[in-house]
Amino acid sequence: MHTPFTNLTFCIRTFGCQMNKHDSERIAGMLEGMGALQVDAIEDADVVAFMTCCVREAADTRLYGQVASLKNVPLRAGTPLSKRIVAVGGCIGQRDGEKLVDELKHLDVVFGTHNLGSLPRLLEAALEEGSHQVEVLDAASSFPTELPTAREHEWAAWLPITIGCNNFCSYCIVPYVRGREKSRPLEDIVAEAERYVAAGVKEITLLGQNVNSYGRDLYGSPRFAQVLDALDQTGIERLRFATSHPKDLNDEVVGRFATLRSLMPALHLPVQSGSDAVLAAMNRRYTRDHYRALVAKLRDAVPDIALSTDIIVGFPGETAKDFEDTYRLVDEVGYHQVFTFIYSKREGTPAASMDDDTPREVIQQRFDRLVDLVQQRAFEANQRDLGSTVDVLVEGASKRDERLLAGKSPKNQTVHAPAPAGVRAEDLAGSTVRVRVDEAKTWYLAGEIVDGPDAADGR
Ligand code: 5AD
Ligand code: SF4
Repeated sequence: MHTPFTNLTFCIRTFGCQMNKHDSERIAGMLEGMGALQVDAIEDADVVAFMTCCVREAADTRLYGQVASLKNVPLRAGTPLSKRIVAVGGCIGQRDGEKLVDELKHLDVVFGTHNLGSLPRLLEAALEEGSHQVEVLDAASSFPTELPTAREHEWAAWLPITIGCNNFCSYCIVPYVRGREKSRPLEDIVAEAERYVAAGVKEITLLGQNVNSYGRDLYGSPRFAQVLDALDQTGIERLRFATSHPKDLNDEVVGRFATLRSLMPALHLPVQSGSDAVLAAMNRRYTRDHYRALVAKLRDAVPDIALSTDIIVGFPGETAKDFEDTYRLVDEVGYHQVFTFIYSKREGTPAASMDDDTPREVIQQRFDRLVDLVQQRAFEANQRDLGSTVDVLVEGASKRDERLLAGKSPKNQTVHAPAPAGVRAEDLAGSTVRVRVDEAKTWYLAGEIVDGPDAADGR
């Protein structure tokens, strides 16, 4: 079939969260399905699509800069086009719409978070008519119908189970650009998972802004534990999910960590702050003690569970004492990983109008102290695995050294080990090896293979 995209090349630049990365896989799937070829470098691409993020100001500024600088990139040799086609979608597309084409005159297509599936049509119109195409919808009427995916790895898949967010944390722009929470019917989720398992996928990561409230809109009450049960039944080797809101993580789900074969012993549970006053101002709707009780329950279920979190430093009005509460909580929990962010004011959110008079240097000092603690605790957490043997799902060759394989432990730690003699590390992607841990650093473990690789079936 010949389409306007046959023989065109495209590349996608993705900012932000896993949902965006997944949306990029869907775009790639659609464009490949229409005969276009994906390339890595912008120089080689006839069509460039940006999947954007506006959660913090830095990503916002970078996007405008990157799109502007595209003007200076020459067209590839042999392109059938007289001009490179540039599209911006995702959260900034949703928020800024027409404003983007007003500021960036060479931009051809703007789309939002609710109409990914319209991108081929918008690109086609831009190609044929040579005019700007801007389409941003207010909301998705239901969970979007399935679009094809071109996955980054054959052996891993992201699977969205909800889109949007109803929580309105006071600092966060996401509910405004991703809309209200919509759950995907359980049968659709299971059918997609079964297709992945049949195709040899080893690991599925369920996605949603708050997976714990899955099903509230469809079934009247959350049914996330039932999603986990159904996915476990598909025979998937490894199951993970992101993200969880502490106010909605219930005992049923906590219990599943102990009972479900496939559910990996790692959980990302963003706390944002350890101060009750700040948590209230953030509209998080839980307290420090509630969070600590959750951690205790999780460790009762799986003593060795690896916890990770997100923390915002410098929320408006954060006092020295508030920060100490956060510092102590991080110290106490002993996370494997903490994503630390300096508060970024987002117009249109309630926090944007709160008094914010803490000096920048003070916030930076708090941030630096916290990062030191995070690294120390991460190092200690990994040290506890010295001498143990872990199952590693191989991702490919290590970026440090191509003779080393790199993969993930059940607790989601990066693990390196020399590939067996005569085997290229990159050829082991998707298989599982057992590694004895001889070295434990802050951000990775290293050791020797003691068993495997298993047959990388389905490949
Ligand atoms: N400023 C700083 N960090 C933010 N996050 C969300 N909004 C903001 C903001 N305005 C962080 C939160 C969230 C993560 C994805 O991004 O910690 O969990
Ligand atoms: Fe943003 Fe809060 Fe929703 Fe997460 S739960 S996306 S932080 S509003």
